[in-house]
Formats: sequence, structure tokens, C-alpha cells
Amino acid sequence: MFSAPRPVILDGDPGLDDAVAWLLALSSPELWVLGATAVHGNMVLPLSLWNAGVVLALAGDVAEGVPYFAGADRPLLRSPITATHVHGATGLPAAGLPEPRRDPNPAHAVDFIIRTVRSNPRQVTLIATGPLTNIALAFRMAPDLPDLVREVVWMGGSTGQGNRTPAAEFNALADPHAAQIVLQSPAAVRMVGLNVTMQCIATPERIEQLRALGNRAGAVCAEMLNFYAAFYRERYGLSGGAMHDPLAVAAAIRPELLSWQPLAVEVELNDGINLGRTVCDLYNVTGQTPNVQVAVGVDEEGFFGLLLERLGTLP
Ligand code: BDR
Ligand code: CA
Repeated sequence: MFSAPRPVILDGDPGLDDAVAWLLALSSPELWVLGATAVHGNMVLPLSLWNAGVVLALAGDVAEGVPYFAGADRPLLRSPITATHVHGATGLPAAGLPEPRRDPNPAHAVDFIIRTVRSNPRQVTLIATGPLTNIALAFRMAPDLPDLVREVVWMGGSTGQGNRTPAAEFNALADPHAAQIVLQSPAAVRMVGLNVTMQCIATPERIEQLRALGNRAGAVCAEMLNFYAAFYRERYGLSGGAMHDPLAVAAAIRPELLSWQPLAVEVELNDGINLGRTVCDLYNVTGQTPNVQVAVGVDEEGFFGLLLERLGTLP
């Protein structure tokens, strides 16, 4: 049965797993990408914005006419952090990347998000693969917005261990106040955290499968994921990098690839070792009403099958 594509905005900090994630979104007929909004995060905003244009160019004709926008260049309150030790100095460590086909749209990302959601009430899904600063700003500037989005699907947080600190996942730590605003808002939020993304590893065999697709997208993704693997080998002793952001896009395409639990989640905002921790009440010991659908399991093979199939359709 044919169902209409689901309108989405891609909000992130590309970044190499964001790049793979956006290519997955752009190549998936279930999604209709209305625009891409860049935010500070893995790198400073100007790099994130340039890379957004590069990823759209890499996707080729399917991204024709998809506008991209500059968003917040810093977190709401805390001082900025980056992750260039994971993503490389520019964020897209691959040779022969195309230049953006066009300039970014001059509107601000937050204005674009507000305008687009308001004109398509309860239809637009925000797929966030970076710090939640743009979305939190949109929710604060337009208090009607949380009720008007269809869903926010966020790669961030964890039901357990962090990655940037023992307690906090990078996107949560990079703007904990924004994360708290979005998670505590009335919006429907799905959280795809480290507890599931660390199970989806781009092993050398999977990287070879990407290269064997024989197209430019497969070759570029393979090269970037090889670079990414070095950090994961050294830090975690894993054979490849975790596909954090692509899994969030997969969750928007096929939520049934993951299992979900409604949980009460709060973000730790006190300075100190726990800053940015997403405290998930797995056993409902607080008795609070769940505010987030939290991914607690993943069909790893199903996810990689989807990724290979879709990236294979790109130039
Ligand atoms: C998240 O942090 C970033 O470095 C990745 O792009 C991903 O969004 C994983 O913790
Ligand atoms: Ca990211």
C-alpha cells in the first residue's frame, strides 16, 4: 500500500555520522525532506553549515531544491564544546567531496522551523542529530510549536553510560538546557540514545559493503567511516564506529526496527560530573508520567540492510 511521504526537517551538526544519516533520509521515499538546519556541535557552526551544503550536493538530484539554513552558533547557557577529535578538523574527512550546489538560505534556521511547522500543523517530524539548541529556541519563541510538531526524533542521551563524560552523551552535554526544554515540552519525543546506537557498529565488513555499492555516496561513506573507526578502536576497542545519527533517521523511517519504552526522562543541569546526563526512570520509581519514547532495543541487521539498500540508490 502506498502511503504519502512524511515531511521532515533534518537538524544537525554534520559531522560524519550526521552526513550518513542525512544521506539515508534523502534517499528514503518514506520521508520528504523540507529543509536542513545546521547547529553548532561536532564543529563550529560555519563548518557545520558548509558541510550541510556538501551533504545535499552529495545526495544529488533527490536533494535538488532542499534549502539549508544556519542555526544557533552556541549553546543556550553553557560554553561550547566540539568533537573534532572524532570527526576530524572539518567534520567530513573524505577526499573529492563536491562543493555545495548553492548558498544557504538567508533565513535563520529557527524561523524556518517555526514557519514550516506552523504551516503544516501536526505533520512535520523534526529529526535532530545534534545538540537541541535550534529546536529549544523554536519552542521558546513559538510556545504553540511543541503541540504542532508531529514528533521530534532525537539522537542523544542514553539510558545508561555516556560517551563524552561517564554520565553524558555528547549531544546532551553540548546543550543540556536545550535538551531539557525539548524533552520536558508537550511535544512527542523519541530518544535514540547510546544504549541502542552503540549496538550498531560499522564493522570493516559493513564498510566494504558500502564501498561495493559502486557509487560515489557509498565510496565517500566508506572513507568517512574508516576514519571514524580509528577513534572507536582506540577508545572502546570496537572494530568500527557507532552509527548514532543514521539510527535516528532509521527510527523515523521504520520505528519498528527499534523497541520503545515510554519513560520519564530528565536532563541533569547541575554543573559537575553528571551534567547532561539523561536520567531515565526505567522502573518508574518517581511515579512521574512518561514524557519520552525511549529506544531500548534495535534490530541491528535490519538497520544495516535498510542503510545499504537506500545509499545504493544515490549517485
Ligand atoms: C553524537 O555525537 C556526535 O559526535 C555524533 O554526530 C552524534 O550525533 C553521538 O554521541
Ligand atoms: Ca551529530
